[in-house]
Amino acid sequence: MLDALEQLKNDALAEISSHSTEAELEGARVKFLGKKGQLAAASGGMRDVAKEDKPAVGAKLNEVRTAITEALDEKNMALTNAKDAAAFDGIDASLPSRPIPQGALHPLTQVQHNAVSVLRRMGFSLAEGPEIETEWHCFDALNTPTDHPARNESDTFYFENGKLLRTHTSSVQVRTMETTAPPIRIIAPGSAFRRDEVDATHLPVFNQLEGLYVDEDVTLADLKGTLEFFFQEMFGKNTEVRFRPHFFPFTEPSFEVDLKLEIKGQAAKWIEIAGCGMVDPAVFDSVGKTRDDDEYSPKKISGFAFGMGIDRLAMITYGIPDLRLLIENDVRFLNQFA
Ligand code: PHE
Repeated sequence: MLDALEQLKNDALAEISSHSTEAELEGARVKFLGKKGQLAAASGGMRDVAKEDKPAVGAKLNEVRTAITEALDEKNMALTNAKDAAAFDGIDASLPSRPIPQGALHPLTQVQHNAVSVLRRMGFSLAEGPEIETEWHCFDALNTPTDHPARNESDTFYFENGKLLRTHTSSVQVRTMETTAPPIRIIAPGSAFRRDEVDATHLPVFNQLEGLYVDEDVTLADLKGTLEFFFQEMFGKNTEVRFRPHFFPFTEPSFEVDLKLEIKGQAAKWIEIAGCGMVDPAVFDSVGKTRDDDEYSPKKISGFAFGMGIDRLAMITYGIPDLRLLIENDVRFLNQFA
């Protein structure tokens, strides 16, 4: 019996080592280790083994089983390794990889993200409105009289149906108040359109960032504090902020905001950056008429609004001398901001 088992082991090992596919190996496993395999058959012979020989035969059976199992495992592993190696044939995995060109955000987008994140930290949330606007949202509700120069055909793009390309993002103020009761604290970045001749500081399409805060007891001090903080976050603590009296139909009092700062490599000078003011009660009245309630009654609430050019923010941030560079999409220019 012992000899027969030794013979079985040797046969099995020889056969396994001669195989070169997974299917053949599986065949060998079934043949030797399967339920109806040769080892199972040999185990059946235990019945006829003399009692005193049983331990030795049992041990031999185990040895043979272990030897065949290990041989199968080893051969399987060898086949898998050979397959992997074949897949890698001709590939040098130790070579450094080729660089994958990385895209980056456009400088305007970067500046807009930065501005939005500063204002979000102060509790403003994003709002939006359509670029094709009604005269109501762009002008009438904003207390802008019919004969105001901004409404002129020579300044504004009109459609035949009377709609227009919004000339500023202030229309989003009206739209937000029409649908949302106070308190509100919103910012609305977006495109605005004017019939301007193209030059270094004018394009017919530009980008604005509108802000509106309406609540009980909002004061001019809140407006000044908000914008001062905002501009110093954007351009550094040394940035000086100046409020210069101005006129907008939709704010009273109104101001233009100037900043004194160094633009890359130039001596510090004052530049105009934004318009702002306390929301004119006439605007609240317009909104109240549309809403048909008194949520925006100037007796209960007050608010401030501001608007600024994002393109201008980008020109200051990066010292860009000509607005046109921002829309020409010359990669040599854009790569500097990647
Ligand atoms: N809408 C004004 C402009 O485009 C800016 C502004 C916004 C002024 C909000 C006051 C309040 O020039």
